[in-house]
Amino acid sequence: MEIKVEKGDLAQHPAKAVIVNLFEGVTSPGGGTGAVDKALDGAISQLIAEGEIKGKKSELTLIHTLGKLPTPRVLVVGLGKQEGFNLDTVRDVTGTALRRLRRTGASTVATIVHGAGIAGLDPEACAQAIAEGAMMGLYRFDRLKKPDEDRKQIDTVTLVEFEESKLKALRRGAERGRILGQGTNHARDMANEPANQLTPTLMAERAQSLAKDAGIECQVLERAEMEKMGMGALLGVAAGSVQPPKLIVLRYRGGDARDTIGLLGKGITFDSGGISIKPAAGMEEMKGDMSGGAAVISALWVLGKLKAPVNVTAIIPATENMPSGSATKPGDVLRAMNGRTIEVINTDAEGRLVLADAICYARQEKLSPIIDVATLTGAMQIALGPGATGFMATDDALAEALVKAGEACGERMWRFPLIDEYRESLKSNVADIKNTGNRYGGAITAAKFLHFFAEDSSWVHIDMAPTDSFSKDKGAWVKGASGIPTRTLVNLLLSLSGKGK
Ligand code: BES
Ligand code: MN
Ligand code: ZN
Repeated sequence: MEIKVEKGDLAQHPAKAVIVNLFEGVTSPGGGTGAVDKALDGAISQLIAEGEIKGKKSELTLIHTLGKLPTPRVLVVGLGKQEGFNLDTVRDVTGTALRRLRRTGASTVATIVHGAGIAGLDPEACAQAIAEGAMMGLYRFDRLKKPDEDRKQIDTVTLVEFEESKLKALRRGAERGRILGQGTNHARDMANEPANQLTPTLMAERAQSLAKDAGIECQVLERAEMEKMGMGALLGVAAGSVQPPKLIVLRYRGGDARDTIGLLGKGITFDSGGISIKPAAGMEEMKGDMSGGAAVISALWVLGKLKAPVNVTAIIPATENMPSGSATKPGDVLRAMNGRTIEVINTDAEGRLVLADAICYARQEKLSPIIDVATLTGAMQIALGPGATGFMATDDALAEALVKAGEACGERMWRFPLIDEYRESLKSNVADIKNTGNRYGGAITAAKFLHFFAEDSSWVHIDMAPTDSFSKDKGAWVKGASGIPTRTLVNLLLSLSGKGK
């Protein structure tokens, strides 16, 4: 899909559909909506007067123009109340409106720049939010379905602006939003892919092709190299699978010599639980247990495309977690890369095992801060539900930066405490640590396990189990893999480099 910015009059645009908007409570529309209303001989204000159009958030009213305008249809989208209106609304109404118009078969759409009118938001930020909302809201994963002969598709979305002076900023914002939206969709593509179509080997191949596309270095380490490095925890998880594990390492150098940030992502391409096998109901969702790794790979792709002035190394331990005659068993002891031994109590607590070795590797590479992203615990999902992603941090400034980075793109990040006492429940009789502890506070014990390997590093652990996928279409979000926290990671890295906005 192409996203364009044009100077002109929305009412005269020849697109197959035109989107205008309305705040709740406005009775005589102005700006672009006003111009279209006039060209329609007051049809919009009449529908407002009759109470059909109220301007409630995401309310949609489709009007057929029957030759009065060059476009055959106008969609009026409600923006809700003016107080509380922000870029999240811009992103969401764009996604909702475009999905509605796609159903009409309109292949080209022109839109008002939501937020840049009476709301007075920064035009560049609005254009970015519209492009993100368009890319994300129109996303579909239908590669595995029989090709549909009347598959409807929007090919072009044009942002139309009357004022010449705003065009440059709008073009910058739209381009940036397109890249961020596309990056999110790359993460979604990987996570939606079934586990037989995205094995660790194929995930590594995707990482390689995305890296190549964005000018990033990609190295894939094989089992023999992991053995040489002593990654016994990662290899212990891989032991039950016939699919060879891959350690995907991406290096992007866009900044001047300073610390290189470490981005680590859980890459379990399927989590059956292993010998501690999961119940059948819902197990198919565990094809998405590599969402953290997918978001990390995609964030690097975005940073490369934006030519961001940052240095970052991504480490994604990719493997299946399967039961078999060669699988790790409860009670087995594994030795991580830093020499510490781990008693495996539950083979379903595999994410922390693969991340333990990734963290050791990041520390050896002197990466700082270390940011890991994982669908780590059901406990975090129970705690937060789909409205926020949880995280723990050893560094208050970093935690604050992460919350801000998420807020800026509509991905809420919520901090949880690292309660040191909970380390006690991870004491093992036979090893340095065991991989599960108390059931209560399970997300925090999991984080304490990782903390044992992060030691004194400046470190953040993001547990995205609550938000890795959604059950319905809503605004810029669609059913299935969310692509969270790709954009948050990009924002965070830009802010750490001092070039954020
Ligand atoms: N991948 C799961 C966590 C998960 C659950 C992610 C639901 C997304 C949705 C993880 O590997 C896991 O199985 N965790 C266990 C840990 C337990 C055995 C201590 C869990 O949370 O039940
Ligand atoms: Mn598991
Ligand atoms: Zn898992």
